[in-house]
Amino acid sequence: MEKADIAIIGMEVMGRSLALNMESHGYTVAVYNRTSEKTKTFIETMAKGKNIIATYDLKELVGILKSPKKIMLMVKEGQPVDNFIEALLQYLKPGDLIIDGGNSFFKDTIRRNKMLAEKGILFIGTGVSGGEEGALKGPAIMPGGQKQAYELIERIFKDIAAKAYDGEPCVDYIGPDGAGHFVKTIHNGIEYGDMQLIGEVVWFFKNVGMKADEIADIMAEWNGKDDILRSYLIEITADSMKKKHDGSDEFLVDRVADITRMKGTGTWTVQSALELLVPIPTIAAAVFSREMSQDKDLRLTMAKKLKIRMPQYSGDKNEMIKIAHDALYIAKISSYAQGIALLQAASKAYNFDLNIGRIAKVWRAGCIIRAQFLDEITKAYESEPDLPNLLAAPKFADFVDKNIRKLVNFVEVAHQCGVPALAMSSSLDYILQITSPVMPSAQVSALQRDYFGAHGYFKIGGPNKPELLLNEQGKVREFHTEWLLPGRPEKEITK
Ligand code: 6PG
Repeated sequence: MEKADIAIIGMEVMGRSLALNMESHGYTVAVYNRTSEKTKTFIETMAKGKNIIATYDLKELVGILKSPKKIMLMVKEGQPVDNFIEALLQYLKPGDLIIDGGNSFFKDTIRRNKMLAEKGILFIGTGVSGGEEGALKGPAIMPGGQKQAYELIERIFKDIAAKAYDGEPCVDYIGPDGAGHFVKTIHNGIEYGDMQLIGEVVWFFKNVGMKADEIADIMAEWNGKDDILRSYLIEITADSMKKKHDGSDEFLVDRVADITRMKGTGTWTVQSALELLVPIPTIAAAVFSREMSQDKDLRLTMAKKLKIRMPQYSGDKNEMIKIAHDALYIAKISSYAQGIALLQAASKAYNFDLNIGRIAKVWRAGCIIRAQFLDEITKAYESEPDLPNLLAAPKFADFVDKNIRKLVNFVEVAHQCGVPALAMSSSLDYILQITSPVMPSAQVSALQRDYFGAHGYFKIGGPNKPELLLNEQGKVREFHTEWLLPGRPEKEITK
């Protein structure tokens, strides 16, 4: 009997689509699902007549594979992944490979990698982005694990991955153990940011009196061939907003409830940012906005209790569309700058050794955040790998410098009309904060902390010298004021 090149466990939509994708590239794929009904249905329908072999127990599945065995899990993250790994172990030998292609938490992936490495089993935790269509026709793939493990799967991944406009496959070795799943998590966090930013602009347009189809036309224009905003998410916004509701004249978007659910990767992004002390206000705003969206009852109650009355927008609509376009682009740069800063911090903290330029390259096609814009990010990091922040890349810095007033204007006008713009304003404030040599709020709170808790403070050189005061050894000097003593003497803290 013919042996299979790879096995896929989990016959939900992503597992099925990946199996078909692999088969279409000439691989023989063995498939398995916990409940056999799904496997049967798949084999009798979509997989009919294809080099896809149905198996109904794990021993059979492993037995049918060429060695070293390659088994890809496409199951729900968490316990199901551990259960399958546990069950597979009895049939695997050192040198075999397990791949987890779900949206797993990266710390679980680190743990699983370590546990399996002790038994000689190779492990790849990989992000697979692009939804059903991507998995079927070409996803972006973000694998992390042993280099040697990646080499076993590299050919298959390169064959099935999306190809960017220059023909390069959207897959690259991301780094050790949890690196691939971490990068996929941040991809999703950035995805949340993009979606929220677009949503706020669309909602603003709606509030100034535009109809869904008008807004769809604007989005279609913003997705034009050479437009800086051109991206998959803008494209599907344009496409979906024209759909009518139930054969009526109403648009579906006007009937869809304002509740955005989420499965966890956005929250993990924010949790990681909190853990690693990296501010990502736009992505946090996106998560918080989804949370607020889910509290529909509370919002319905509050809208009755506290009626915020703001004037209708009376300015020039066309002018506002132009402003919103550039404002959205700046907000997007800011959001990506935050996500990348988080990747860099994690790279250090977890020894992922991430290459930002190459990650942006993987994201150019196949994934949900795919956009021309990612090419610019790659170029920025190729020419300056040690960029302190994406906003410092000359092309982006120049655009932001010339156009930031438009983002200020957008946020101002939105607020004046009573339209919330949490992510847009967070993007703006991130830029304002990161370019402040002195943050006045921080000066005030540093003093307050010392006042109520004797927590100490650092000093700067003077009104025009924002640099920290250092001692002769180059260490930051720390001070404390005795606030309750007469004369409030200040002393230097020496440790
Ligand atoms: C992708 C998507 C995919 C999925 C998310 C959605 O890259 O293909 O991000 O992973 O659609 O899980 O996440 P939420 O359900 O949290 O919005």
